[in-house]
Amino acid sequence: MKLADQQTTALERDGFLILPDLFGLNEVALLRSRLPALLAEDSPANIIEKASGEVRTAMGIHLRDEVFEKLARHPRLLEPARQIRPEPLYIQQVKVNVKAAFSGEVWQWHYDFATHHHEDGVPQPLALNLHVFLDDVNEFNGPLYFIPGSHKFGAHQALHDTATTSYPLWVVDRQVVREMIANAEAIDPQRGIVAATGKRGTGLIFFDTLVHGSPVNLSPWDRSIFSLILNPLSNASSRARRPDFKHHRDFTDVQAVADNCLLSAAELD
Ligand code: SIN
Ligand code: MN
Repeated sequence: MKLADQQTTALERDGFLILPDLFGLNEVALLRSRLPALLAEDSPANIIEKASGEVRTAMGIHLRDEVFEKLARHPRLLEPARQIRPEPLYIQQVKVNVKAAFSGEVWQWHYDFATHHHEDGVPQPLALNLHVFLDDVNEFNGPLYFIPGSHKFGAHQALHDTATTSYPLWVVDRQVVREMIANAEAIDPQRGIVAATGKRGTGLIFFDTLVHGSPVNLSPWDRSIFSLILNPLSNASSRARRPDFKHHRDFTDVQAVADNCLLSAAELD
């Protein structure tokens, strides 16, 4: 799957790109069917919400489940990634961010490179975050909020927030967020913040310095999103402070599986 020029232009301009209908409903149904067992596992890679005890994020899932192993190597994710970064790429992180109905908690404004750099010693903001919606994501169930163009601010100061949620995060100061949103509004008054919504099966790509966050899920609808982070081997982490499931250390070039691998797996079931 190749991104059109118009799509790469939008990605460069905004720092993110939404890909409707990247995966079909039957493929998503197969992925969703794996979640209850994964979320029920007593694993340190399942990070629990501070208040509710629900799983916030299930990490390292390509090593825990054969279907997610295929999704982490799926050509509909790998081919666009290679188009943007045409060099050997390794799997840095694979997870499902769950954001359960009524209780899924906030992700503060942040950009991922701040964590990748401070925690893992990644030199440059070259990683790509590739998402697949496993639920329909609407304005009520805690969609990601993006600030268009905020990736162009590069690697600015971030603060280590270990208190707000169960997942320590390097977050962006509110005054900086205010300025970024004002900048985006100066380009398009309707797009100071963009909520990334769409049907299950929607894909997303965003850059490592794009500022994003997400609100609590007050709705009765779960909002699970698969996330794959790929990083160039030439830009690998230099520190192994965090557990492997937060930054994998298998520094080999990721190899794509067949495009129909999920469907054929479903037929075998
Ligand atoms: C993230 O920033 O990695 C997660 C945000 C979310 O799942 O809402
Ligand atoms: Mn993030």
